Amino acid sequence: MIARAVEVLRAGGLVAFPTETVYGLGADAANPDALHRLFAVKGRPTDHPVIVHVARAAQLDDLARDVPDIAHALAAAFWPGPLTLVVRRNLDRVAPEATGGRDTVGIRVPDHPVALEFLDAFGGGVAAPSANRFGRVSPTTAQHVRDDLGTDVDVVLDGGPSLVGVESTIVDVTGVEPVVLRVGGIDGEQLARIVGAPLAPRTAGEIAAPGTLAAHYAPNARVELVGAEELGSRADRLRAEGLAVGVLEAPATAAEYARVLYRQLRVLDARGVDVILAVLPPDADGIGAAVADRLRRAAAAAQ
Ligand code: TXA
Ligand code: MG
Repeated sequence: MIARAVEVLRAGGLVAFPTETVYGLGADAANPDALHRLFAVKGRPTDHPVIVHVARAAQLDDLARDVPDIAHALAAAFWPGPLTLVVRRNLDRVAPEATGGRDTVGIRVPDHPVALEFLDAFGGGVAAPSANRFGRVSPTTAQHVRDDLGTDVDVVLDGGPSLVGVESTIVDVTGVEPVVLRVGGIDGEQLARIVGAPLAPRTAGEIAAPGTLAAHYAPNARVELVGAEELGSRADRLRAEGLAVGVLEAPATAAEYARVLYRQLRVLDARGVDVILAVLPPDADGIGAAVADRLRRAAAAAQ
């Protein structure tokens, strides 16, 4: 299956593959035609950059130029793992189509045996956004990918359910100080331990990363955030209005919440509910911050 997936990728096709965060929809990062098809299938604006996935941290210096020491330190600490580093693009190795024409590129080594085998066998960079249509809920199983993309994807590698469940943390290391563009699987405390100081979030008005659009990660149902204590009364009120209500209660730990979040949103959508009442994780630290971020964006999409 891996050999066939590599063949398909080399021929310009699209291969969905598992990662520890969510499933990715992969194309050869050096093949402009394959990248055009990737953006068409994803339904993504062509100026939104995608992450390039590689098997080894050493490839960072092939795909990027002027890589700062802090990037090497972060890669050494967290790769393979749910961290994406935005660095300066090596113009010969990454097609501008992968990066929305930018001078920078997001790179990561995913922590999943199937992904690593696939990436290693391919050898080059694999450009891959999450394997969902633009703006929708990310897939955490091979079946989610098939449900969303059907025959638009040539091969789906099945590596079981994603164990982290929310996307990678994105850190831009092209400026004077590293900046967090998207919270995700690696938390602020872990980053600070390597950088030596807390990292700033990017707050500038410019959209640096489309995953940071206010409305994103949206199920079909409207998502409302509620406190655990008001869950029952809010559900009763909506039901009295004749609406079908689904409830997303916070699991015991933030890690568990992250793992089941997207699957639960899909389960509730499949049930055809009108409104999903979601309780934020009690713990805003660690991966709880990423869960809260995704829930807020899902709720913003309903506005
Ligand atoms: O965990 C993940 O990151 C998953 C798996 C498949 O690796 N991928 C993922 O890709 O979430 P996607 O395309 O759904 O989100 C990638 C985010 C986007 O918000 C994009 O704008 C940002 O990464 N990004 C990629 N390259 C960038 C760059 N050069 N500068 C700024 N943001 C970048
Ligand atoms: Mg995505």
